[in-house]
Amino acid sequence: MYQDWASLEAACKNCRKCGLCQDRHHVVFGVGNPQAKIMFVGEGPGENEDLQGEPFVGRGGQLLDKYLAAVDLDRKTNVYIGNIVKCRPPKNRDPLPEEQEACIDWLRNQFILLRPKILVCLGRVAAMRLMKPDIKITKEHGTFLDKNGTLMMATLHPAALLRNPGQKPAAFEDYLKLREKIDELGCDVAKR
Ligand code: URA
Repeated sequence: MYQDWASLEAACKNCRKCGLCQDRHHVVFGVGNPQAKIMFVGEGPGENEDLQGEPFVGRGGQLLDKYLAAVDLDRKTNVYIGNIVKCRPPKNRDPLPEEQEACIDWLRNQFILLRPKILVCLGRVAAMRLMKPDIKITKEHGTFLDKNGTLMMATLHPAALLRNPGQKPAAFEDYLKLREKIDELGCDVAKR
């Protein structure tokens, strides 16, 4: 367990705990305000993220930024964004259970330092890992679940929304619910 962000990030960036370290360009540690009380978790870096070292910077990331902006959230100001695995799985396949297992302590440590009031799972992989293994994201997205004092919600993955634009209005509803919950809890660092 690392007690501060700088040592956690430095250690994570040297990680060789699974095979994904072999072909990586960057360890994608995370981005955001370490004081934020709202955390987003995706599944793992894609090609653009691997090249740039930041989560959600491709087309899916641009869509995510639009949803965030629509509810007064911003990746640099009042949220923190991380992933289940920090290195890119080949050809963007789902991270294997053993890769998730090898990597999850980095996310756990980020969670402990951040102590988020709200955690949003971006897509099925994060929701299955962090909320419940049998979650049906198409049915259960937008519903908050209290897990030891953190409210967790899953929403559809931005890449899935690019493939199925018909689901965008439903996803937008999730962000509106998120904003309502943030205001109810008074946990937006930008508004203090
Ligand atoms: N998809 C994810 O789940 N995470 C990223 O960082 C980029 C794409």
